[in-house]
Amino acid sequence: MFDLDNLHKNELILDVASGVSSFCAEASAKGYNVTASDRIYTSSPLEIEQKCRQDLDEVIKQLPGIVDLFVWNFFKDIRALKAQREKAYKLFIEDFENNGTKRYMPVEYPSSDFIDNRFTVSLVSHFLFLYENYINYDLHKKIILELLRITSKEIRIFPIVNLKGKKSSLVDTLMHDMDFERFQISVKKVDYEFMKNGNEMMAITH
Ligand SMILES: C[S@@+](CC[C@H](N)C(=O)[O-])C[C@H]1O[C@@H](n2cnc3c(N)ncnc32)[C@H](O)[C@@H]1O
Repeated sequence: MFDLDNLHKNELILDVASGVSSFCAEASAKGYNVTASDRIYTSSPLEIEQKCRQDLDEVIKQLPGIVDLFVWNFFKDIRALKAQREKAYKLFIEDFENNGTKRYMPVEYPSSDFIDNRFTVSLVSHFLFLYENYINYDLHKKIILELLRITSKEIRIFPIVNLKGKKSSLVDTLMHDMDFERFQISVKKVDYEFMKNGNEMMAITH
């Protein structure tokens, strides 16, 4: 998703709206310095686990009706996807229980308590652009400006399509917004594609 092959272990990485994903747990186990942030981290591991079980069941129930919106290479079929998602959220719950206050910060974006340049790289997966019908441009802008305040080098956003698999209209709006003129914005193709057309990430660099 983020083309992280060349990422150095001394980067200070922020996972934005990380939810029940296992990125923080898995990358930390490999020696990366990752902080996960999400508004759900005010809840207990048990509460989060119950909710994400229900959410996963709901998603899996709906998938047969929208199966054509996805590319079934990375996941062979719905069963494989479900198994992978269960594995991921279990890894997350275990790490959240063991390293909760160290690695998992409750944050309700667009505001955060992180100091300026607290991180070097921020990663945003399946949060911005994808939900353009729920998060308007003004909120996108506030969240991205906050991330640029707390991140010294670069933020990466994946994917840049909306839930229908079409490039979000907010991408062009952002690229032409004068308030982002002082940053370099680029769109790059990446190897991962699960949502059809969802194989590009945006990088915003200081
Ligand atoms: C679809 S999930 C993505 C989780 C993870 N990044 C991934 O790709 O698997 C979206 C996440 O955004 C979080 N979220 C939504 N609005 C938020 C906000 N204003 N501040 C922080 N987190 C938020 C939700 O709690 C949820 O965990």
